[in-house]
Amino acid sequence: MKKRILSGVQPSGQLHIGNYFGMIKRMIQFQDDSDLFCFVANYHSMTSINDKAKIEHNTKEAFIDLLALGIDAEKSTFWVQSHVPEVTELAWILSNYSSVGLMQRSTSFKDKIANGLKPNMGLFSYPILMASDILLFQSEIIPVGKDQKQHLEMTRDIATKFNNTHGDIFVLPEAEIDSVNDIIVGTDDQKMSKSYNNTIPIFAENDVIKNQVMNIVTDSAGLNDPKDKDTPLFKIYSLFLNDESKKELSDRYDSPGLKYMDIKNELIDTIINFFESNKSKRELLLENKDEVNQKMILGQNKARKIAQKTLHSVKSAVGLL
Ligand code: TRP
Repeated sequence: MKKRILSGVQPSGQLHIGNYFGMIKRMIQFQDDSDLFCFVANYHSMTSINDKAKIEHNTKEAFIDLLALGIDAEKSTFWVQSHVPEVTELAWILSNYSSVGLMQRSTSFKDKIANGLKPNMGLFSYPILMASDILLFQSEIIPVGKDQKQHLEMTRDIATKFNNTHGDIFVLPEAEIDSVNDIIVGTDDQKMSKSYNNTIPIFAENDVIKNQVMNIVTDSAGLNDPKDKDTPLFKIYSLFLNDESKKELSDRYDSPGLKYMDIKNELIDTIINFFESNKSKRELLLENKDEVNQKMILGQNKARKIAQKTLHSVKSAVGLL
């Protein structure tokens, strides 16, 4: 049996190469030998965005972007979270098996507040909705970044409490953390993130990509000095290289005569070429709304079928039927 792998992507605007190398690339590879479940987590994005136009736009764009990058709606189960309302019904049930103390210990909640976000109840119970995403589909493996690890522990905690009370209804999911690509740095050497304004967007105009690469922070090493490789330009370029080309780049960094400007220009070409076919695919999808809608409905139907089955067992177990 193929392993069931599940992941959600929050539609928070333009996808960037940090999203791609951190998660999306892995998901696309999983499609070959696992049973991939992937969704656009628009209920989650409501915890910080209350703007109708933005929610609609970002959801559609994220769905199209993921298709263009290679998520296959036929092979995998790919849907928009809000098209499967069972997830919110299960979240309500699960909230009665989730202790307030557990939610209060969420570091991601605490971080968001520390950054000035005024928390609503949606943000507070965000981990319960995430647990519902995972448990509703009886997922076995959840590929996440380190920042989501605690959410996975909370999911296991909630599932265990439920199973101990009502019998083995839920599969206990395992987090799978990719330690190599866990932190993709941005142009300023901090973690690449929209909130730091240090991203390189995948589907932006070439000029924007150019600008962002030119903004990558470099040091003032002299022309013939060996160059430091623990730097954002080297690290970002390496994402696009195989071992052999990475070794070549590394040798150039060690040798006299290397100009950062040349490397930046090469990187711009590399990025543009790398995503060229995805860009064309995206253009086609943007023009072909019917095809996109059909894929959304396909995903919704596939996902709901499983969701309804789990929810039925849950409701029966707790005495709601
Ligand atoms: N919280 C995740 C993030 O911000 C998105 C997400 C929502 C998710 N539900 C999920 C990821 C379920 C994995 C499984 O990246």
